[in-house]
Amino acid sequence: GEAAAQAVAWWRGPAARTRLLALAQEATPRYVYHLPTVRAQARALKSLGAVDRLHYAVKANTHPAILRALAEEGFAFECVSPGELRAVAGAVPAHAPLLFTPNFARRADYAEALATRATVTLDALHPLEHWGELFRGREVVLRVDLGRGLGHHEKVRTGGDGSKFGLPVEQLDAFLRLADAHQVSVRGLHAHLGSGVLDPGHWGEVYAQLASLAERIGSVAFLNIGGGLGVPSHPGEAPLDVAALDRALRVVKAAYPHYGLWMEPGRYLVADAGVLLARVTQAKAKGTLRYLGVDTGMDSLIRPTLYDAWHEIANLSRLDAPGEVLYQVVGPICESGDVLGTDRRLPESEEGDVMLIAQAGAYGKVMSSRYNLREEADEVILED
Ligand code: LLP
Repeated sequence: GEAAAQAVAWWRGPAARTRLLALAQEATPRYVYHLPTVRAQARALKSLGAVDRLHYAVKANTHPAILRALAEEGFAFECVSPGELRAVAGAVPAHAPLLFTPNFARRADYAEALATRATVTLDALHPLEHWGELFRGREVVLRVDLGRGLGHHEKVRTGGDGSKFGLPVEQLDAFLRLADAHQVSVRGLHAHLGSGVLDPGHWGEVYAQLASLAERIGSVAFLNIGGGLGVPSHPGEAPLDVAALDRALRVVKAAYPHYGLWMEPGRYLVADAGVLLARVTQAKAKGTLRYLGVDTGMDSLIRPTLYDAWHEIANLSRLDAPGEVLYQVVGPICESGDVLGTDRRLPESEEGDVMLIAQAGAYGKVMSSRYNLREEADEVILED
């Protein structure tokens, strides 16, 4: 909606720009997160009347201030590791519901999750085959593979052929026999097909497919239709139509009204709230190309390298100057893949200019590394 569209551009305003330039003066590389944008995105999703429980997929960004803001907005939390469970426990009030949705986890990881108030998701036969006593008498969620995947890149599709996630539906009866043998009750069904989905009809289809499986099981009380809500990244791409998503969910919920509807978005809540600030180190002309080097690259933001992801890049020191040079914006890492943006039309830029890499709030800092033993980007929160 309008709130979200305004929020996307938070860093373009003159006040924000002055603030960001001052922050870059202190230190780069640096992530800056704008909490009002997180809250605006949270409220856009809270308008989904068909959804009974929203979890924040904390893997996207685990900054405690963001976890707290989303707890205040009434979100529950989805975690995939003991570390994420501990991060949430340390940051938010103890009443926020937790969902543990790991993949190929250790026995000890499930044991740790079961000792908290988390609802635990299984997605293979192995845990009940080998560690049945751990789950005896428990209620669990079962993640299934609906046979197809979706997403902005092949590497983020989490269903169908070649995907390691979810129990294949052919093994459902075997899972239910094991559950029965260990007095485990399947209270929820879960599917997450991938990340960066902009088609609002997708989640209704998942709900309908899960509901028809749930009818065969009997004990199921809720359906978790995953996250994956995309944000437009390329110029001109249309945002996810949240109202259309809600309409699609209402239709399938009317057909199968007796299940609670859960979702677990990550990116949608935090992507636009975060920017990465870096400073120009050197410029170089080589062959036909003009390179602009900045003081961080794939060590802070690996998405362009890993997925060819497109992040808008702006020269914050010359925001109003015309874009007259076609630059390859690169980092200092010893890999040819260390590119933040190819063929970016930017003002003629100089050493020390502050570059802003947009939409870096999701899967930025959390995927960073200290490769080449570079200093990690720090993180700053803007409350307004
Ligand atoms: N639920 C499950 C089970 C997931 O595996 C994921 C993401 C989510 C929810 C949240 O998805 P989201 O709403 O954020 O799309 N690093 C990649 C994205 C990987 C997503 C992994 N799973 C990227 O930077 O695009």
